Amino acid sequence: MGVVHRGRGGELRADVAHPRERQDRQYRYRAGDREQRVLVSAYLLVSRSAEYETRLQSLLGERLAVIPGEFLTFGPDSVVSRVAGSPRIALLGPVLNYEETRGLVEALTAKHPDLGLIVVREQRSDLEDWVDELALHAVLSPDAGDDTTIRLLDRLAEWLVENGRAIASDFDAPAALEIDEEILGVLDVGLESGVDSSAPVPEEPEPEPRPEPEPEPEAPAWEFPPLDAGTPTEAIAVVAPKGGQGKTTIAINLATGLAEVAPNSVVLVDADLQFGDITAALALSPARTIVDAVADAAADELVLKTTLTHHEDGFFVVASAPSPELGDQVSPRALAQLIDRLRSAFRYVIIDTTPGLGEHTLITLEHVTDAVFVTVMGVPSLRAMRTEFELLTRLALMPGNRHIVVNQTDKNSGLTTKDVESILGAPVDFEVPKSSAVLLASNRGVPLIHDDVRDPAAKAIRSIVLRIAPEAFPKRSRIQRRRRSNEPE
Ligand SMILES: Nc1ncnc2c1ncn2[C@@H]1O[C@H](COP(=O)(O)OP(=O)(O)OP(=O)(O)O)[C@@H](O)[C@H]1O
Ligand SMILES: [Mg+2]
Repeated sequence: MGVVHRGRGGELRADVAHPRERQDRQYRYRAGDREQRVLVSAYLLVSRSAEYETRLQSLLGERLAVIPGEFLTFGPDSVVSRVAGSPRIALLGPVLNYEETRGLVEALTAKHPDLGLIVVREQRSDLEDWVDELALHAVLSPDAGDDTTIRLLDRLAEWLVENGRAIASDFDAPAALEIDEEILGVLDVGLESGVDSSAPVPEEPEPEPRPEPEPEPEAPAWEFPPLDAGTPTEAIAVVAPKGGQGKTTIAINLATGLAEVAPNSVVLVDADLQFGDITAALALSPARTIVDAVADAAADELVLKTTLTHHEDGFFVVASAPSPELGDQVSPRALAQLIDRLRSAFRYVIIDTTPGLGEHTLITLEHVTDAVFVTVMGVPSLRAMRTEFELLTRLALMPGNRHIVVNQTDKNSGLTTKDVESILGAPVDFEVPKSSAVLLASNRGVPLIHDDVRDPAAKAIRSIVLRIAPEAFPKRSRIQRRRRSNEPE
C-alpha cells in the first residue's frame, strides 16, 4: 500500500513496511476528520511553566504537543487521555512534584511502553533518586540552552531508534497525509460509526461482511411532542472534578423536574460512559444504549428515538454503554454530535458526566448552555472544584450559565458557607443537605423529588430546576408523589 508523505523536503512516496509506522499513520488520519487532520507529534511536554512551553515550542514547532500540568489535578489519566497518537519522547516538568511525575510516568508508559522519558528539573540532591526510581532516560535542566536541549533530544531519539523503540521518521515534523483509497475504505468504518478513532487499527483488516439489512425501526409507543421551530433548547451538563459528589442524583432529579414543565421533551444522557448508573437508579431496563445512539443506523431520527428509554415521569434516557469496553468506543466527537442532535428534538437535554475533565466532558462543555457544578463540603473536593473553574476559564470552556451546587451539606462539617465560598473563589448557588431520603429513593428506583416531596434535599434540588425553568413553579397537581410500597393504595 503506498502512502504519499509530503514532508518538508518535498514529496516522498514510500511503501509502508514497518507495521508501527503504518499503524501510526492510519491513526493520524483517524484521529481527525477529513477536513481537520490532527497532527500527531513525536514530542510531548507536560509542565506547569508557560515560559518553558513557549521556549520548547519555538524549538520543536509542530513536533511538540503540550498538555498543561493543571490537568494533573484530575489525575495522570486525565493527562494521558489527552495525548493524541503515540508520542516517542515525553518531557515532564518543570514544576511537577515527585508524586505527579511518578503517576505520569506510570500512566504514560502503561499506554506507550516504548516512550523515552526526560524529566525537566534543576540539579538537586534528590535527583539521582528520581532517576533510579522512575526509570527515566534523561534529566534536563530547565535553564539548558537550546543547543544542549536539541542535542539531548537527538541523542535520546537515536537511542530509541537503535533499540527498536522508534523509527527515524517518527521524529519528522508531522505533515498532512494523503492516503490511498484502499486505506480510506478501512478508515471510514471508524469515522462514520462514531466509534473512538483512537481504537487500535488492525494490521490486515478482513473485508467487512455486508451488514444485514436493518429491520424497520419500531414506532415508539410514546409521544415525542414536536418542537416548534425557534423554540430555545437548553443543554445542561452536570459535572464534578471528583467522583461521588452527587452528579447522578442531581441529573436525574433535574430531568424529573424539567419534565413537569416539558413532558416528554426532556432527555437525560448518561455520559458516564464506563460506569453510568442512571438506569439502575431509575429501575429501567434499557433495550438500547448510547452505543446504539451514536451508531450509523441512528443517523435516521426515528431510529435515534428508538434508542431512548422512556421513564414514566415523562422523560427519556440515553442509557450508558452495557460494558466499560463498549463505553470506551464512544468517541468524544460522537458524544458531541449526539448532544447537538438531541437538542434539535428536545426542549431540555441533561448530561450526566464522568468525574474529572476527560475529553468527553470537555467536549460536552463546549456543546451546552448550562453547567451544574457539584461538590461536597470537603476541602479537597472544594479545592479541586476551584482548580476546575480556573482551568475551564483558561481554556475558554466555561458555559454561559454556571450553577454551583454544594451537596450533602452538614452543619457538623466545620465549614460555613462563607468558608466554602472562599475556598471555591465563587458564590454558592445552591446547598443540598445530606439526607437519607436520597439513598432510599435511589434504592427504590424513584427520582427523589417524586419519592419524598417534603425532603429538604428534594426541595433544594427543586430550586435548581426553578432557576433553569422559572415556569416550573411547583403546582401541587404537577407533583406526582409516588406511593411508598408500605402505603395503602
Ligand atoms: N444530598 C445527599 N444526601 C445523602 N446522600 C447523597 C446526597 N447526594 C448524593 N448522595 C449519595 O452519594 C452517593 C453518590 O451520589 P451520586 O451517585 O449521585 O454521585 P456521582 O457524582 O454521580 O458519583 P460518580 O462519580 O460515582 O458517578 C450515592 O450513594 C448517593 O445516594
Ligand atoms: Mg454518577
